[in-house]
Amino acid sequence: MTQLPIPADLPDVTLNENAKVVLSRRYLRKGPDGKPFELPKELFWRVASHIAAQEAAFKGGKARVAQRAREFYELMTSFKFLPNSPTLMNAGTDLGQLAACFVLPVGDSIEEIFDAVKHAALIHKSGGGTGFSFSRLRPAEARVGSTGGVASGPLSFLRIFNTATEQIKQGGTRRGANMGILRVDHPDIIRFIKAKEREGELNNFNLSVGLTEAFMKAVDADEEYALVAPHTGEEKARLKAREVFSMLVQKAWESGDPGMVFLDRINRDNPTPQLGEIEATNPCGEQPLLPYEACNLGSINLALFHDENARDGVDWEGLKTVVHQSVRFLDNVIEASVYPLPQITETVRTNRKIGLGVMGFADLLYQLGVPYNSQEGVNLAEKLMGFIQDESKLASKALAEERGAFPAYAGSVFAQKQQGPYRNATTTTIAPTGTLSILAGCSSGVEPLFALSFVRNVMDGDRLVEVNPHFEAALKMAQAYSPKLMEEVAKIGSIKAMDYLPEDIRRVFVTAMDIEPIWHLKMQAAFQKYTDNAVSKTVNLPNSATQEDIWDIYWKAYEYGCKGVTVYRDGCKTSQVLCTGEGQ
Ligand code: CDP
Repeated sequence: MTQLPIPADLPDVTLNENAKVVLSRRYLRKGPDGKPFELPKELFWRVASHIAAQEAAFKGGKARVAQRAREFYELMTSFKFLPNSPTLMNAGTDLGQLAACFVLPVGDSIEEIFDAVKHAALIHKSGGGTGFSFSRLRPAEARVGSTGGVASGPLSFLRIFNTATEQIKQGGTRRGANMGILRVDHPDIIRFIKAKEREGELNNFNLSVGLTEAFMKAVDADEEYALVAPHTGEEKARLKAREVFSMLVQKAWESGDPGMVFLDRINRDNPTPQLGEIEATNPCGEQPLLPYEACNLGSINLALFHDENARDGVDWEGLKTVVHQSVRFLDNVIEASVYPLPQITETVRTNRKIGLGVMGFADLLYQLGVPYNSQEGVNLAEKLMGFIQDESKLASKALAEERGAFPAYAGSVFAQKQQGPYRNATTTTIAPTGTLSILAGCSSGVEPLFALSFVRNVMDGDRLVEVNPHFEAALKMAQAYSPKLMEEVAKIGSIKAMDYLPEDIRRVFVTAMDIEPIWHLKMQAAFQKYTDNAVSKTVNLPNSATQEDIWDIYWKAYEYGCKGVTVYRDGCKTSQVLCTGEGQ
């Protein structure tokens, strides 16, 4: 393995308590006895030096490796930037698979279906998540030429993928995650919409209906639309678009599933249409990809860029430096990553997509005293992401000068628009940062905090208690802090109803449930405007939300230019990952 010895003067890494637990359970390398044989400092050096070593492949790069390794080490251990989990787990190890997101094609034959099951298993084993479109499969009861029998349809095959996933823990650390997508004009769409109505069904899958522009227009005009068998092109039935949309809304109201993705919109932003159409996304929806494509992600921790003396309270210079370092890091990850299939290696190397995003956004807002549910908050989101997007493109352009453009550049939309050349077909994606944000000790992705103080259920029933440090600091400053109050907040989560607290504190320290759905959506749209790929975001709703509310959110997501939308109505599932209150 390409690894430099640890320099004697390398500073150690300081970790918070939660990070220590997560690192040792999921990230530190373990021996046959299951005990970690790696220290946190060794982990970050393993990753930094292996990713830096990739520089040696480029002209004049050899001389830079040692200095880059230190730079990457400092970048990660300051927690200003972290690469996605598979990079932390596998860089510099025999496994060597570093990407979190994959999309695999599922063809309309038993051979192709079971190839996809096998390929997904290989990806899960290495810590990646997989997305599939099942839209090419012939519908249930369609004729099967070779046997004269009838086909089982996408749903029954989906169950096979689900069961296979159940048996494979990703890299021995986490269970595989999948996205299943079916186009709204597939004849089995109603079964698909109802597929997760029983709790626990298809538990290793997120499902999304692939909506088309034509379908949305039919909903708007209250018209029928055609269901078409993909293998023959034959029209099988006509349905009222509003009835299907309404069923989608009802199921999302009941269980949160299925979500929806706007396929035409995703393809409108496909930077390399000459290589084919995008049919699916990764498990959490933030990364649309071509068949056999993978993408590695990384996230900048915005909470660390607060500078009260700077314009808008943001350290723009510092942010710029970190964006450029992170883009280089993620491009090196492509060089370093070993993919489970030659087709994936080829597609990845042709487009070289990377997904730089952010976490700690809500923490930054807290520090700035700006409410998440305000126009000021939305404006700041646009400004921040616009800046990161622009700088990431400049960084990718500089890398193209140093290393060459991504091979599909000549036929890409950038070449047509005379932009670039770039090293990467995409540079930005907003990931959920489910585990990364625990390591960095910040709020996840671009989500508001779920609660100002809460209990987090992690793997195998472990519980982690967390109190937001910015909240505590603000209370202390206002001389409103007391241990009794903290207990109270931990029980309820929100301070919305605590009218004895200062008004400005109640206005700024809002949590997911305090925020009206429309602001969740406006924030998603603000980030989407400056993100090449998509934005991982959940629109949280109170238990009392109605189906009309969800209809409205889905429709607005379409109008605001989002690429998809996920809603979650509080309490509609018995087990929730994040929870407030006692005894959960
Ligand atoms: O924080 P971390 O890097 O672990 O992951 P994330 O940002 O929460 O999720 C990013 C992507 O990793 C997801 O969209 C999936 O593609 C993949 N993932 C997965 O495969 N399995 C999981 N259990 C979690 C995430």
